[in-house]
Amino acid sequence: MTMTTTRTVLAAAVLLLVASALTGCATVAGTANAPRVGLLLPDSVTSRYEAADKPYFEAKLHALNPRATVLYANADGDAGKQLQQAESMLTQGVNVLVLDPYDSAAAASIVTEATAKHVPVISYDRLIAGGGAQYYISFDNERVGELQAKALVDKLKSDGVPAGSGILMVNGSPTDNNAKLFKQGAHKIIDPSGYTVLGEFDAPGWEPSKAQDWVSGQVTKFGARITGVYAANDAVAGGAIAALKAAGMTTVPPVTGQDAELAGIQRILAGSQYMTVYKTIKPEAEKAAEIALRLAKGEKPKGDTVVDGVQSTLLVPVAVTADTIQSTIVKDGFYAAAQICTSAYRAACAVAGVK
Ligand code: GAL
Repeated sequence: MTMTTTRTVLAAAVLLLVASALTGCATVAGTANAPRVGLLLPDSVTSRYEAADKPYFEAKLHALNPRATVLYANADGDAGKQLQQAESMLTQGVNVLVLDPYDSAAAASIVTEATAKHVPVISYDRLIAGGGAQYYISFDNERVGELQAKALVDKLKSDGVPAGSGILMVNGSPTDNNAKLFKQGAHKIIDPSGYTVLGEFDAPGWEPSKAQDWVSGQVTKFGARITGVYAANDAVAGGAIAALKAAGMTTVPPVTGQDAELAGIQRILAGSQYMTVYKTIKPEAEKAAEIALRLAKGEKPKGDTVVDGVQSTLLVPVAVTADTIQSTIVKDGFYAAAQICTSAYRAACAVAGVK
């Protein structure tokens, strides 16, 4: 080998080494800069998940890091399906999971599997049992129940409905930790109110049809003794109202709700639903996106509070009746007035000052 050839071979070897070291670096840096984030939502019975949580989350994540990717799955009200979806995301190498559990207890095994792979989990909107998540983002859910029940009791009192009159309670899914908290908050107000709970039902999967069937049975049983309905969200409120109308009740008693669903807001304007609870989903989803990226970087973000040993952020829910639709939901741009005030609701919008 001549001197020149030796030099050339050496130079080539050095170049190769440098190049592979560089590519190595690039690959490591690439994973850190382009995190894969798994978003798991519970159902499509309630409109918020597809209409608000998912788009707000994705938009914020991409705004904060254009190289981040979202793997998305909706469990369609099936805990087994949610477990499979999470496992598939873990196999695909997600760096963090944002999990709104369909079943708060069953989801503990998702956390166990994620933890074994060193993948942090955000408990999104609903608390996962067992306390293994790295962060919990939600609303003050007991307060949601209090707001609903207080609005109902105040309305009955201001309408002069006498003490001892009857209320039905249509609660949320028995597998949802939030539903338990809404119910607790509601009972705090209803139990000492002087009104009587005629019957109470936990609607499986928050299904409107299940709420409707149960309320139909109660109408047959109690008829005009039903003077108010506590419904834990707009989906089950819709089912309850359908049952009351189908039974031909001349005046539909006040019915509560939650989520400020478009259909719920329109029922409030039309007078068949009394109130809803507006939860600002945008900041909730955006906070989740921000925390997800920090966890993916290996940071340990601190919350404003601690729930069940988990760093947490709890946002504030707001009660909304016809007269406050404009100053809350429309003002925030949650819906444009044009979305709410379609031809059937134009007159009601004018009365309520929605514009
Ligand atoms: C709750 C959630 C509500 C509502 C409900 C039905 O956990 O906080 O906003 O969507 O589930 O899915």
